[in-house]
Amino acid sequence: MKGILLAGGSGSRLAPLTAVTSKQLLPVYDKPLVYYPLSTLMLAGIRDILIISTPEDLPRFRALLGGGDSFGLTLSYREQPSPGGLAQAFLLAEDYLEAESCAMVLGDNLFYGSGLSRLLRAAAVRAEKQARATVFACRVRDPERFGVVSFDECGRAVSLEEKPLQPQSSYAVTGLYLYPPGVSRLARTLRPSARGELEITELNALYLARGLLDVETLGRGYTWLDAGTPESLFEAGAFVRMLETRQGLVLSSPEEIAYRFGWIGREALFRSAQRCAGTKYGEHLRTLAEEETLRRDKNAARRQV
Ligand code: G1P
Repeated sequence: MKGILLAGGSGSRLAPLTAVTSKQLLPVYDKPLVYYPLSTLMLAGIRDILIISTPEDLPRFRALLGGGDSFGLTLSYREQPSPGGLAQAFLLAEDYLEAESCAMVLGDNLFYGSGLSRLLRAAAVRAEKQARATVFACRVRDPERFGVVSFDECGRAVSLEEKPLQPQSSYAVTGLYLYPPGVSRLARTLRPSARGELEITELNALYLARGLLDVETLGRGYTWLDAGTPESLFEAGAFVRMLETRQGLVLSSPEEIAYRFGWIGREALFRSAQRCAGTKYGEHLRTLAEEETLRRDKNAARRQV
């Protein structure tokens, strides 16, 4: 399975913060926003990822993330010449995806919760083996701001609507989508909506109509945040800060995920720690690498006894 990280848009709801930089490069507490959705794709086990952004912003993403070596990833980059809707990503990525299944995440979406990796990997298997698509729904106070999914009495998804004035449910469709091979072909059949965009909600509705869409609800054990407004950006930072400070952990560190999955070695982790020396983030990576060294030393000592 390949990944798409969509980091386009003008970030108009965050002006003037976004006057000279991309929304997805703004800080969420101790790391750039883009690290969070990138980590989400990694938790799905995805290592080959295409980053799509505007012609102005793409060089900044390339400067930050490079070829993906320090995360054990292969990163590629593509311009979205003009904003044409989320589903346009599948047209731009058609040759990149070839005949592979894919997961797309929006660059301003943060997911947190234990068991997320298992949930994502299961959805990836369904896309690969059963040609099924998966979206994730989350209860929100203001569903009219999102794509909304409604369910019948048996809990089966029955409708999908983009930012409805009168939402049929309180469940928003989050910005994380998994599709079987052939999603670009299906996206080609879409026509621009009234606001002139190829809507991801319409694409999902096509899978729903064919009986090929799974809607996973993210329950109380999960947190889903989008950071597209000053308020939500601030709240996301406060959330991350609270958890990290309380638990002494770092959330959504691509280096840590890569290391724990065995995609990078200790040397690469040390190098990343060095690059962020003097910060809590760098300290965390260094400790992680040292813990491993200690563990190995202990094991070696035990073997000698
Ligand atoms: C987009 C999608 C919407 C989805 C949301 C999740 O909206 O169109 O269906 O619920 O992302 O973040 P946007 O935030 O681009 O307005």
